[in-house]
Amino acid sequence: MKGRPLIPFAFIALLGIVLMVVFSAIGQQERAGRDEEGEEAPEAPEITDAIEYGQGIVEQSCISCHANDLGGTDIAPAINNLSGQLSEDEIVDIVTNGQGGMPEFGSSLHPDEIDAIAEYLLSLSE
Ligand code: HEC
Repeated sequence: MKGRPLIPFAFIALLGIVLMVVFSAIGQQERAGRDEEGEEAPEAPEITDAIEYGQGIVEQSCISCHANDLGGTDIAPAINNLSGQLSEDEIVDIVTNGQGGMPEFGSSLHPDEIDAIAEYLLSLSE
């Protein structure tokens, strides 16, 4: 009879250790998830006006190949005449993944920024 009270104590101690291990494992997993996101995804921008925002990026990143007026050059086609030719989804896909001599922007631009670019380009020929 004297040994009996020890059993609940041992049980509670064991439970405590198990919980500690479980919680620290969950914590580690969450941290790993955050690290991955931080490395892969460009930060989400604050976009109030998608067309204006898209124009800003295009003037910075695209005119070197597609010309100042986006009317095309020897190395890249016009992209100021896309409505009716390409859907918004197709433009997003080309800009995200690249195509032929067109570089990919999926690793440097946030998906919201690429959506804004597509909206801006389509607005030029609506
Ligand atoms: C290094 C030069 C270069 C840069 C910079 C560049 N492009 Fe391109 N782009 C090209 C070339 C070359 C093509 C033709 C690709 C092919 O072979 O289909 C193209 C094609 C495209 C197309 C498809 C046009 C069509 O009629 O099929 C779109 C849309 C486009 N680019 C948008 C952009 C946007 C938006 C940016 C800026 C974020 C950009 N490009 C930056 C070279 C470039």
